[in-house]
Amino acid sequence: MNLHALLENMTLREKLAQLTQLDGQFHVPGGGEELTGPLHDMHIREEDVAASGSVLGAIGAQRTRAIQEQHLKADRHHIPLLFMLDVIHGFRTIFPIPLALGCTWDPELVQEAMRVAAKEASAAGIHVNFSPMADLVRDARWGRVMESTGEDPYLNGLFAAAFVRGYQGDDLRDPDSLAACVKHLAAYGAAEAGRDYNAVELGQYALRAFYFPAYQAALDAGAAMVMSSFNALNGIPSTANAWLLRDVLRGEWKFNGPVISDWGAVQELVNHGVAEDGREAGLKALKAGVEIEMMTSDYLQYGEELVETGELDEALVDQAVLRLLELKEKMGLFDDPYRQASPEKEKAVLGCPAHRQLARKTAARSLVLLKNEGNLLPLSKESRVAVIGPYGTARHLLGGWSCTGRDEETVSLYEGLLEKAPASRFSVCAGAGFYPDDPLSLDEAVAAAREADVVLLALGEHPDMSGEATSRAFLDIPAGQTELARAVFALGKPTAVVLFNGRPLDLREISEKADAVVEAWFPGSEGGAAVADLLYGDVLPQGRLTMSFPYAVGQVPVYYNGFNTGRPIDREWSDQRYLSRYIDIPNAPLYPFGFGLNFSSVKYEGLRLSGRCAESNLEARVTLTNMGEYPAEEVAQLYIRDVSASVVRPVKELKAYRRVPLAPGESREVVFPVNTDMLAFVHEDGSRYAEPGRFRLMVGPHAAELLETEFTL
Ligand code: BGC
Repeated sequence: MNLHALLENMTLREKLAQLTQLDGQFHVPGGGEELTGPLHDMHIREEDVAASGSVLGAIGAQRTRAIQEQHLKADRHHIPLLFMLDVIHGFRTIFPIPLALGCTWDPELVQEAMRVAAKEASAAGIHVNFSPMADLVRDARWGRVMESTGEDPYLNGLFAAAFVRGYQGDDLRDPDSLAACVKHLAAYGAAEAGRDYNAVELGQYALRAFYFPAYQAALDAGAAMVMSSFNALNGIPSTANAWLLRDVLRGEWKFNGPVISDWGAVQELVNHGVAEDGREAGLKALKAGVEIEMMTSDYLQYGEELVETGELDEALVDQAVLRLLELKEKMGLFDDPYRQASPEKEKAVLGCPAHRQLARKTAARSLVLLKNEGNLLPLSKESRVAVIGPYGTARHLLGGWSCTGRDEETVSLYEGLLEKAPASRFSVCAGAGFYPDDPLSLDEAVAAAREADVVLLALGEHPDMSGEATSRAFLDIPAGQTELARAVFALGKPTAVVLFNGRPLDLREISEKADAVVEAWFPGSEGGAAVADLLYGDVLPQGRLTMSFPYAVGQVPVYYNGFNTGRPIDREWSDQRYLSRYIDIPNAPLYPFGFGLNFSSVKYEGLRLSGRCAESNLEARVTLTNMGEYPAEEVAQLYIRDVSASVVRPVKELKAYRRVPLAPGESREVVFPVNTDMLAFVHEDGSRYAEPGRFRLMVGPHAAELLETEFTL
C-alpha cells in the first residue's frame, strides 16, 4: 500500500476525520442515523463519520465486523478502522488486577496472561489495547493504583515490557496480536493529594529517574502507541505539552507511532485554563504532538480554518495521519480489515478452559500472605469453617476495567472452598456491607462463628471503590464490615481475614486482631478457586507486595525508595523530636514493599561479596534456609544505595530478585551478579551513568528486613 499516495488523495477534512476517534455508537450499521444528539453537538457530519479513523468501545466480532464492513463501503478511500479498547487485565477470562499481577513478581507469567487477553480481544475484533498503564504509584488514595504494578520503577519497567510483549507477540500482523498503547504520559499517578485528574508537580530529576523509566521500558519493548495523560505536569497539561510529547518522546526516545489523547482531554485544555476555546485547544494539542483526539472534535471543527489562517501547518496533520496509516498497515488491516475476528473464533477462545486455568494459576501467584500467627493457614480439611462477610459468596471478584468479563462466570470464594471440603464443613453468612447502610446480620454472623472451629472473614472494598475517579480520603474497609469484624474477633475464635480490594488499605486493626490475613486483591474469573487453593495449602503463598501498605492514611504517599533527609529517624540526636518523623505514628508502613510470608519462615544469613570493587565482576552471595515444615517459594531481593552522589539518591532501590524454592529444612546459596549498570541513574539532563564512590548492598525478604554490606565503584 502506498500510504503517501493515499494521503495525497485525502482532503484536509478527511485527514482530520482520520485523527478523530468516535464512540462505537456513532457507527451504527445500516447508516442513515439522524445527526442529532451528540454528533450534532460535536459538529460532526455524516461524511466525517465515514472518513473517521478509529472507534472506541465497539466490542464483539459480529458488531466490529459489521461496522468495518459498512465503513469500508462508506469511506471513499476504503481505509479500515482501528478498533480500540481498554483490555486491562483480560477480556473474557479476567486475570487479577494489575496491582495484583505486580505482586506475582513474575513478568513471564504476566506476559503469558496478557497473550491470552490479546487472543480473546482480537477474536472479538479489537486491534489496539489502551494498556499497559505504566504510571508509577505512591499514593493509595488514588483509585487507579489498581491499574499499576506498583511503586518501583525497575519492577514496573519489567512488567510494562511484559504486558507489551504479551499483547503484541512477535508480530503485529499476527491476528492474535493487539497493538499496545502505553499510558498515561506522564506521571498521571503522582496526582496531588491522590485526587484523580489533579495536577502534578515534579522536578526533572524525579521525573526522569523514577517516573519515566517504565514508559520507556514499554516503548523499548515495541509499544505501538502512546496515550497522553489528563494531568497538568509542572503547569502544562500533557495534552498540550510539546516538551513532553515532542522533545522527550519523539526527540530523546525516538518514538514514531501515534499519540492519542485521553478521553476528552483535548477539549479539557479549556478547563485547565491553557486554551480560550476548542479552537485553541485543538491547535495546542496538535502542535504539541497529540495525533488522535479521543471523543471530542476540535480537530475536525477547527482544523481547516486553522490551516487556512496559517496558524496550523498542514504538514503536521499529514505526519499525524501517516503515523496512523502506518500502524494500520503494520497490523495488516489493508489486507484483512477484519483480522480474522469471527463469532466462531470467539466461541473457541473466549473463556476456554486453558485460559481459565492460567487465570487460576496467575491469581494464586498474586495472593499475598500478610500474617499467619500460630500457623492457622493452611486450613485442615477436617475443620468446621464459618464463612462470613460480603465476599464469602460474592461473584464480583473481577475488579475495575473488566466490563467484558462476566460476574456470572466467576468462581466465588465459597464455590472455591467447596472444591476442598464437603458443604457440611461450612456455614455461610455473607450479607452485603460494602456501604454503611448495607444490611449485615451481626447476630447471624456471630452465631455461625460460634459454632465453627475457624472463621474466614471475607471482606473488602466494593469493586466500584477502585479504578478511575475513585479517590478515597480514608483507606479503611467500609464501616459495616469493621463492625462485623469486631463482633467476630470478640469471640476469640481462630480467624483468617481474606481481603478483596484494589488498593493498599489501612489494615492496622485487622492485622492486629486477626490470626491470619490474606491479601487477595480482585483476583479475577478464577479468584475464589485460587484463594481456596492457598487457604488449604494446595498452592504455596508466593505473592510479594509491590506497593507499601500505610500504617495510617496520614503517611501517604509512603514508599520504600524515598530519600534519607538530613535528619533521618535512626540518627542519634540529643532531642529525638527534631528528626524527620511524626509525633503520633511511626514512619514505617504497616507492610513494606516486597513483603509477603511463606507458610514456613526463611532465614537469611552470611551475606558476602566476592570483592569490594564494582568493576571486578562482583557477586553477592547469601544463604537461605527454610526453617519450617512447609515448602517455601521465597523471593530474595537485592537493593542498592548510592551512599554519596551528586544528587540525593534513594535509601534503597530494588536492582534484582530471585525466586528460590526451598524444601522444609533446605538451605541454598543464592548468587546475585552485581554490575555497574545497576549503579547508574538518570540525571536531570537525561543522561544515565554511575558515579564513583561508596555503595551499600542489601539482600533480604523485603525492603524493611535486609542484611547489608558495602563496596565501591
Ligand atoms: C482513561 C484511560 C482510558 C480511556 C478510554 C479514560 O477515562 O483515563 O485510561 O484508556 O478512558 O477508555
